[in-house]
Amino acid sequence: MRIMLQSLLKPSFLLSLIPLVHALDPKTVIDANGISLFDKIEEIERQLLQPATLNSLVLPCSLNAQADPNEGQQTSAEWVRTVFHDCITKGIAGPGLGGLDASIGFESDRPENIGVFVNVTIGQFDQFNTVFLSISDLIGVGLADSLATCANDHRRLPLRVGRVDATGPGPAGVPGPADTFAFALAAFNRAGFSQSEMIQAIACGHSLGGVHGSDFPDIGGPTGIDPNTSGRKPFDSSPDVFDNTGVNEYISGTGLKGGPLVVGLNSTENSDLRIFSSDGNATIKAMLTPQSFEDTCFTIFAKMMATVPAAVTLSDPFQVRPWIMRESHLDLTSAGAVQFSGIISAHGASTPPNTATYVYGTNGGGNTGQKTSGAGVILPGSSLSPNQPPDASGIGYGVIKDYSFSDIITGQGVTSLTVTSSGSTYSGAINTNIFILPSQSFQQQNSGTGTGPWMVRVAILSSLTTATSVPVATVWHRAPQVGSKASKIVIKTSNMAFEKTLGSYKIYKASSFSSGANPPLNQESGHFRIKLGSTQTSAIVATTLFKTTCTQNDISLC
Ligand code: HEM
Ligand SMILES: *[C@@H]1O[C@H](CO)[C@@H](O)[C@H](O)[C@H]1NC(C)=O
Ligand SMILES: *[C@@H]1O[C@H](CO)[C@@H](O)[C@H](O)[C@H]1NC(C)=O
Ligand SMILES: *[C@@H]1O[C@H](CO)[C@@H](O)[C@H](O)[C@H]1NC(C)=O
Ligand SMILES: *[C@@H]1O[C@H](CO)[C@@H](O)[C@H](O)[C@H]1NC(C)=O
Repeated sequence: MRIMLQSLLKPSFLLSLIPLVHALDPKTVIDANGISLFDKIEEIERQLLQPATLNSLVLPCSLNAQADPNEGQQTSAEWVRTVFHDCITKGIAGPGLGGLDASIGFESDRPENIGVFVNVTIGQFDQFNTVFLSISDLIGVGLADSLATCANDHRRLPLRVGRVDATGPGPAGVPGPADTFAFALAAFNRAGFSQSEMIQAIACGHSLGGVHGSDFPDIGGPTGIDPNTSGRKPFDSSPDVFDNTGVNEYISGTGLKGGPLVVGLNSTENSDLRIFSSDGNATIKAMLTPQSFEDTCFTIFAKMMATVPAAVTLSDPFQVRPWIMRESHLDLTSAGAVQFSGIISAHGASTPPNTATYVYGTNGGGNTGQKTSGAGVILPGSSLSPNQPPDASGIGYGVIKDYSFSDIITGQGVTSLTVTSSGSTYSGAINTNIFILPSQSFQQQNSGTGTGPWMVRVAILSSLTTATSVPVATVWHRAPQVGSKASKIVIKTSNMAFEKTLGSYKIYKASSFSSGANPPLNQESGHFRIKLGSTQTSAIVATTLFKTTCTQNDISLC
């Protein structure tokens, strides 16, 4: 009774009584770079519907398609294990500190993180690391992609974004197979997980992959060693399907009987048996049906994904909207007309319509009339229903269609583009006051000893400028950091100089982003934003949209 009363008075219990008054507005939560949660959500949506991005690395569920098959690498399992090893040390450095923050990237050499998984995983995620997408947010995306690839129904775990990457290692403390039950429970409790949640998390994680003999040579067992997979002994008979096979084999003593951490030769290292049976197998027994297993696991994985430092504000969970603008940018024609072009994308179980219809919203609240995009193009390999096996163009998104558009919007006071189709509405903001000019900006391919790899130009409405206006260009790009396969995002700024007037706009340019010590970063892409004073801010534009054809040795001549 006394114990019960104490736990009722715990702050966590009291907090749970405070009702959630309103959902978080993702546009109002802004990070140190000025990027909102809303911007991050859009960026992830764009990536998820794009072929050959993060999700293509986890296909098929059974292996790492880039690695030697004899190494026994299973990307999906490595990504899931990475979530556990990163988030479970929350609370060791102090209350509210640590969690899913990509500190794991700096911790690959620790015995508790033995195996190739940390550097392989972080190296895979790093390719997609930008000012919008932190490595720790990508770890969450990777978890959802793994489950969608490996579950028979390709169910997608809703995503949340807003995680901030650590700049160095966190404390050690990931429980291993030889640790006591008390040690493991203490680690999970500190990170916010109860005993039954610990059991659920392990049973869910150990539905994929197995134990590599190369990492744990003394964990033997009746399952034998396959020399082609670094002696990997799977946890269950379907290590490449996210399902309830393992918990059933554990309870019934059939198949692999729960795997090498249940029936291993050295009982000290049978941590799954120790932990699963710690409540008389009650938690595991509640997970035996396919649906109870999947529902339990999706709940516990959502909790692991949200195990972040207290200082982080996560977005509410989201799924990719049916319609998005995959890419869009303003530009000026040679005659000085404002042109807005890009790609609208749709996805769904049934094939999206032949064309996309949209309107441009204007200053006064009206619009410029209905427009029709070019004919939609189905992305290669995406013509599958969400319940069919995943493909390289997106996991579980059905048919993905891209619609290109390009419109002259000069003089119409345009502030937004809105797509409305079968009950779903997507709206994107357009700022014609100040915008980067991709057709007049350059990302130099092989800059020699030049001042830097970029020339950026911006158009600003002449009426907003004075003779002394100095716009400031900011670029964010990746740079290697010591001790982790993750790069860090560095910021460079440069004042811009007036170049010429075109139509109603003044054009400014900048080509020096050197901060002295940094050598020019050849072909490293980045993202630019331009500000004039504190009131005029351009949309952020990826340098991949810039021209690459300037052959001058000195980028300032481009
Ligand atoms: C006390 C807790 C846990 C212990 C002692 C433990 C132990 C282990 C061990 C010894 C391995 C083999 C690693 C290797 O071969 O290099 C492993 C693999 C794995 N663990 Fe755990 N684990 C625990 C909890 C979890 C949790 C909570 C998850 C995820 C939710 C998880 C996910 C995985 C996955 C997916 C693999 C397979 C990796 C692969 O095949 O490459 N584990 N675990
Ligand atoms: C069993 O594992 C424990 C912990 O790793 C180790 O100390 C012990 O030597 C092992 N016993 C045998 C017989 O290998
Ligand atoms: C293991 O690899 C060798 C060489 O690649 C191959 O001949 C053999 O069939 C493989 N064995 C299994 C069990 O996959
Ligand atoms: C729990 O299940 C395992 C595996 O089937 C079994 O060995 C163990 O005796 C069970 N423990 C309890 C307390 O039921
Ligand atoms: C992982 O990569 C980092 C950064 O390159 C390196 O310092 C570390 O030693 C690597 N760890 C392993 C296990 O290879």
